Amino acid sequence: MAEFVTVAKESDLSPGQSMCVIVKGRKVALFNVDGTVYAINDTCSHAEASLSEGELDGHVVTCPRHGARFDVRTGKALSLPAWAPVDTYEVKVENGEIKVAL
Ligand code: FES
Repeated sequence: MAEFVTVAKESDLSPGQSMCVIVKGRKVALFNVDGTVYAINDTCSHAEASLSEGELDGHVVTCPRHGARFDVRTGKALSLPAWAPVDTYEVKVENGEIKVAL
């Protein structure tokens, strides 16, 4: 069974916001879409860029470096120059804490 790790307080991430957290040495991007938190690998699958620094529009984040778009629910790349998906992680929010399982 996946082990959930507390990574942030729920109050740290308002709807429409994103942030990067380190989970077991891995950079994970968190996104709050209308109160639901999603977690994907922070590093773009195209090159070195932090997806948590990208613009979030609904469930879609745009990479700040070359503009590839990813669905934060599935990690799927929606537009070039990225074609490979990024990993997604299970998230749960309990007692005001955001927890992620790798
Ligand atoms: S680094 Fe993200 S699209 Fe190039």
